[in-house]
Amino acid sequence: MNPESPAPDSAPHRRRPRYSGKNPRRFEDKYKEREPDKHPDTLAKVIASGKTPAGTHRPIMVPEIIEALEPRPGDFAVDCTLGFGGHASEILRRVLPGGILIGVDADPIEIVRTEARVRALGFDEGQFRVARSNFAGLPKVLAAQGRAFADVILADLGVSSMQIDNPARGFSLKENGPLDMRMNPQKGEPASALLRKAIASKLRLMLEENSDEPHAEKLSTALAGRFFETTQALAEAIQNALPGLDEEDAGQSVRRVFQALRIAVNEEFTALEMLLRQLPNCLSPGGRVAILSFHSGEDRRIKKSFEAGLRSGVYSAIAQEVIRPTAEERRSNTRSVPAKLRWAVRRAE
Ligand SMILES: C[S@@+](CC[C@H](N)C(=O)[O-])C[C@H]1O[C@@H](n2cnc3c(N)ncnc32)[C@H](O)[C@@H]1O
Repeated sequence: MNPESPAPDSAPHRRRPRYSGKNPRRFEDKYKEREPDKHPDTLAKVIASGKTPAGTHRPIMVPEIIEALEPRPGDFAVDCTLGFGGHASEILRRVLPGGILIGVDADPIEIVRTEARVRALGFDEGQFRVARSNFAGLPKVLAAQGRAFADVILADLGVSSMQIDNPARGFSLKENGPLDMRMNPQKGEPASALLRKAIASKLRLMLEENSDEPHAEKLSTALAGRFFETTQALAEAIQNALPGLDEEDAGQSVRRVFQALRIAVNEEFTALEMLLRQLPNCLSPGGRVAILSFHSGEDRRIKKSFEAGLRSGVYSAIAQEVIRPTAEERRSNTRSVPAKLRWAVRRAE
């Protein structure tokens, strides 16, 4: 975040800046995109250009996910990563009448907005409920609903566009913000604290494991134990540590370090592994799960777990190959490019 601009979520009321009408660059100035109901033309233009309107999230691989999950009227469905509610609304339409969807998300800020948005689409408390939780606690989420199993489970891993684009959340590479990166800012430590405490050898392993960073050794020596207050201060330090690289390659390293830190701050692999372990016990006989992932560290874990489940017989079928977005989707939504989908079916008793 720019030090002069207070966070939108906690800021005292400020006069809205005049809208230039010509592609505003800062998140705070993109209020037309962030009020899609009032400015549908602006929204359509941004989408047509292959971008995601600020403050929204475009659901990825919707037809492929629906085909994998086969949601039916009466099903009890769980979306472990509610986000903007895009996939959830599509599933909800198919489990009604008689079904219900529980939308789980760790993010206490966006979940409130998404609940209101999905309610406004006409889904009542009997059809759609939210649970603010880490999906690692899926059995508890089910128990709180008086259930042991779900018929349909979806997880669309990582962060939402609302989180990435809002500089106040500290994920942003494009705009300056506090170096935070927590999906749940009420829990754990921000990325700045993690780096300040890090020792070089551990940081190197973390960069290699979480994002296959080829310059992990050099970067860990340069970054470990230092305090970076903002996202831009960290990005500059990464670039300065790699003086021989051209802009494109240095930019890739910046993206990889940010990804590795985000995974560490939110303990994303631990949460995914817990979810994968619990899934067979959380699915009803014949129940289906689909997981959308965005980098090799996630996909490797999902593939291994589903294959082990097929061998042991808890799953009766799994995706033989990873499923990728169509060329058309990759073109029209650049954020879909790295997506990989896998599914599994719980053995029917
Ligand atoms: C890619 S977005 C999901 C977008 C959603 N499918 C949609 O259509 O709008 C991922 C969401 O999952 C949440 N999330 C990531 N890891 C989580 C975890 N371990 N437990 C709960 N929520 C998590 C993030 O806060 C974010 O809102």
